[in-house]
Amino acid sequence: MRLFRLWWHADRRRRPLEEPSGREGEAYFGFEPVSPAEKTARMIRHFDAVAPVYDAMNTLLSFGIHHAWKRQAVRMLGLRPGMRVLDVCGGTGDLALLAARRVGPAGRVLLYDINPRMIAAGLPKLRAATGGAAVRPVVGNAEEIACREGAFDAVMVGFGIRNVTRMRRAFAEMHRVLRPGGRLLCLEFSRPRWAWFRFLYDLYSFRVMPVLGERIAGSRQAYTHLPESIRTFPLPGELARLLRAVGFRDVAWRPFTNGIAVAHLAAR
Ligand SMILES: C[S@@+](CC[C@H](N)C(=O)[O-])C[C@H]1O[C@@H](n2cnc3c(N)ncnc32)[C@H](O)[C@@H]1O
Repeated sequence: MRLFRLWWHADRRRRPLEEPSGREGEAYFGFEPVSPAEKTARMIRHFDAVAPVYDAMNTLLSFGIHHAWKRQAVRMLGLRPGMRVLDVCGGTGDLALLAARRVGPAGRVLLYDINPRMIAAGLPKLRAATGGAAVRPVVGNAEEIACREGAFDAVMVGFGIRNVTRMRRAFAEMHRVLRPGGRLLCLEFSRPRWAWFRFLYDLYSFRVMPVLGERIAGSRQAYTHLPESIRTFPLPGELARLLRAVGFRDVAWRPFTNGIAVAHLAAR
């Protein structure tokens, strides 16, 4: 394994994002080129397999830091009581729960995910924390959001857009369902800024994570795909260009923990 070659070159990262429809046929599952249909099918199987241990593995692999990233990112969104919020690729609902606390009983939070098992795995947590009514789960594809134009004051997508086959289409959908002036939060993994930190992070990602994935979650493959998908994902400036290209304005970003995670904020 050559650690210094793991992070994909800008051209390769950008190709599936920025090319017009002709190149949209290009998709990757981790480092492996696959057809778009195959990517979606594999993604669903992947989260079927990890759903029961998803929350526990996140906390273990990140030493609990992902909770702090999520709290800070949702705080940056500036939610107020009564707001309508959409959590795209919401999974087990961590971001939806944080948003529900901020928008209160007068607000509305929709947890939107393609995988019913991921949603089901999070329901006990959501019920225990909110009594169940505060977050409404909906199964659906981020590439075709089943909501009317301008329905939300805020849209969030946390550690999910990386998994969507047609990322550009999904961002265009998020833009469509936001009201004018509404805000987008995209929280994703990214490349650490310091080279020595990146080296240690790469070692941890490719030597430790798959082993823990195999021993604890029973899937080495799932926790090999995770670090691979991070290394093929656009860097902050590249993602900002994509967001502007689909119509967002005031795009800004903030790195967490040396850039391991990055929160992008933008407005419709
Ligand atoms: C890594 S999990 C993130 C879950 C949650 N947002 C979090 O921060 O913990 C990614 C989620 O994206 C969902 N997903 C992947 N592709 C999707 C799509 N096309 N439409 C909707 N959800 C999708 C998966 O089912 C999974 O639950």
